[in-house]
Amino acid sequence: MPILKLLSKRQEAELVTAIQGRAEIPLKFAYLGEGAYNWDRIARQRSEGKGINSAETALLKKKVGDFLAAVDTQKGINIIDIGCGNGRPVLPILERLKEKNIHFTYVPLDISNEMIELASGTIKKRFPGTKCKPVQMDFELGQFSDITYDLKDSGGTNLMLFLGSTLGNHSDLNRVLTNFRDSMTSRDFLIIGVELTNLAKVSSIVPHYTNTVVKKLLLEIPRELGISGSAYTYEALWNEKYSQIECRIIFKKPVKVKIAGEHFTLEKNENMLVARSIKFTEYTATKLFSDVGFRTELLTTAEDRGYLLTMIQPTRYSA
Ligand SMILES: C[S@@+](CC[C@H](N)C(=O)[O-])C[C@H]1O[C@@H](n2cnc3c(N)ncnc32)[C@H](O)[C@@H]1O
Repeated sequence: MPILKLLSKRQEAELVTAIQGRAEIPLKFAYLGEGAYNWDRIARQRSEGKGINSAETALLKKKVGDFLAAVDTQKGINIIDIGCGNGRPVLPILERLKEKNIHFTYVPLDISNEMIELASGTIKKRFPGTKCKPVQMDFELGQFSDITYDLKDSGGTNLMLFLGSTLGNHSDLNRVLTNFRDSMTSRDFLIIGVELTNLAKVSSIVPHYTNTVVKKLLLEIPRELGISGSAYTYEALWNEKYSQIECRIIFKKPVKVKIAGEHFTLEKNENMLVARSIKFTEYTATKLFSDVGFRTELLTTAEDRGYLLTMIQPTRYSA
């Protein structure tokens, strides 16, 4: 089904407002419907050791024991996979839990139902009989303590995962992290993976955003808005000031758009952000987590300092 048909009234309003207000198409909508399979194609390159975030998988495999050692798993564990994608990135954790006979429930949480189905399928195929409790929601809209609280019915610990450098795709990082913090108790943990800025490597990261499968994902919403590919040029550039990759379309001619009964024109030379990917340094990442009210339990980086994985927890006594 076309993505735009899958948008709720609220999402339609958010899309129009973002286009008109800040010249941006929020990336999260690209993962709905068929978009989930576009992402799956990108993510599969990772398990082959190539492409976006393959460093995260390697690092997680290496450090999974250290992460799990800090978590109380006696009464089982709820693995809350926030922005689950195809579910593959969490396999190193689930494999270790299985090896250690630790009971787990898998909770794929995503804006996209199709993505949740892909992730549940991955996990059930790998671990038949696994209990899955899918949650379809937009985590930018608020805290979800009702969900995390209910999961603890059976006494298990909540371990949230936010993998794949997804944090860096958002325009308001504090808001996203605050929503997570307010959905956790000071006994729960959150593991976050983010790509680091390695200035020497920027030139090798940028091409990840111009390959055909990535462009297919990012340009799906413009296509569905009826904007022909011949009406714009696409570029992915490093923005030094904001330490982020910016993917944009720049219009070669005026383009008329209609969404939800609203008509407007995008002018020649106007540009529109279709994705951002903020890259962090160890300092900016830890400062961000600390400012939001998290303490760090563990932090590890890839040998080439290109990726960071950290396990954090709400700071109970920060006042
Ligand atoms: C970059 S992909 C990463 C997927 C996976 N974690 C990985 O590491 O491969 C981002 C994922 O987050 C989901 N997502 C993005 N924004 C979201 C939002 N606001 N609420 C819920 N899910 C969101 C997308 O649908 C997608 O599954």
